[in-house]
Amino acid sequence: MLNDSIQYQSGILCCDSVALKDILIQTGTPVYIYSLKRALSNLERIRQAFAAVHPHIHYSAKANANLAVLGALVQAGAGVDAVSAGEIHRAFLAGADPADIVFAGVGKTPNELGYALEHGVGWINVENVGELQIINDIVAGLGRTPARVALRLNPDVSANTHHHIATGHGTAKFGLSAEVVRGVLKQQADYPHIRFDGLHIHIGSQLHDSRATRQAVQLARELMAPYPDIRTLNIGGGLPVAYSPDETIPDWNDFASDLLSLLEGCEVILEPGRSIIADAGLLATSVLYRKQQNEHTLLITDSSMAELIRPALYEAHHEIVPLFQPTEKDSLSYEIVGPVCESSDVLGHNVSLPDDLRAGDVLAILTAGAYGMAMASNYNQRVRPPEVVVSEDGKSWFIARRRETWDDLLRTEL
Ligand SMILES: Cc1ncc(COP(=O)(O)O)c(C=O)c1O
Repeated sequence: MLNDSIQYQSGILCCDSVALKDILIQTGTPVYIYSLKRALSNLERIRQAFAAVHPHIHYSAKANANLAVLGALVQAGAGVDAVSAGEIHRAFLAGADPADIVFAGVGKTPNELGYALEHGVGWINVENVGELQIINDIVAGLGRTPARVALRLNPDVSANTHHHIATGHGTAKFGLSAEVVRGVLKQQADYPHIRFDGLHIHIGSQLHDSRATRQAVQLARELMAPYPDIRTLNIGGGLPVAYSPDETIPDWNDFASDLLSLLEGCEVILEPGRSIIADAGLLATSVLYRKQQNEHTLLITDSSMAELIRPALYEAHHEIVPLFQPTEKDSLSYEIVGPVCESSDVLGHNVSLPDDLRAGDVLAILTAGAYGMAMASNYNQRVRPPEVVVSEDGKSWFIARRRETWDDLLRTEL
């Protein structure tokens, strides 16, 4: 969706003060473009919403791990939520202090745990009882002070979101049931090289209300209550973003204020991803062909599900707008599709756009900063697009990652 940073100025789509057409002259399409100004202001808005509990904010790198984005957020004081050793490595390169990194994930390998613990990563969010023994043994071997662990609780609640991004229901693979958490906490002495300092919950992404989060926080507080040393509650990500003008989502201040009283007395960690970077980014794409297929008018673009998989994977909606602000002239409903050999390679259904669009025209797929490039693939041997960052001043911009080449695609084959 258009916002303070991504908007038309004098009829031309801009990212802050930079006209997209000026970027495209150098980069071509498809290209991801991010506004650092918007990402940093989202970080600040989240900080303000939860200010009463002084949250530690760990940006969830899985949403968008571009080094320039990560570096700017780290510079602005964010820690990092990483779900693989690769993300931890990136967080280091972006300047993160190891102590400000949370390592989460349902299937961490012993090697990954070893890497994190050797480098002094601040928190390990644990989701398997078996993981505890591995951590305990690694720390014993390293002769380090005990590792700080938060047990991830599966609170068995049903989040109001798409079923593919709900993670807190009892049958989900994520976290440990309340019964298991209770049991582990009673047996803390079995793990002398672990400090059980917190609980972690993340019940899903793009939460449309705070009800299930409240239930989950309440349960976590009950489980923590007998242990005064367990003071940290990590409530994960999940803050929602509007992908279309008619999507009603709670205001972040309201979402936070629903939770604040339940969080009193806790050290609070947040792991926002989407809410920081989704609406700071767009994918610019060119129309390759216009084609009439029975009653449908198709625009076949140079972007596909390989560059942006969310519509195919989650039936996600992204607003799609033209590079030049439409005037009052007639509009038409289009199917916006990519060149990939899959029927699900559709980027937008029934998209209303000016009726005279044709090959060479540029479209912007909005709210694509999170889980866009981060989930892009080389399917059909497509090279992944470049990423451009518009600096915090809103005026300068740079190519933060170049377009891949065919050689890049072959580099790892022996
Ligand atoms: C454990 C955990 N924390 C944080 C996040 C980030 O969530 P969001 O992008 O909704 O803020 C996720 C997303 O999957 C997650 O699994």
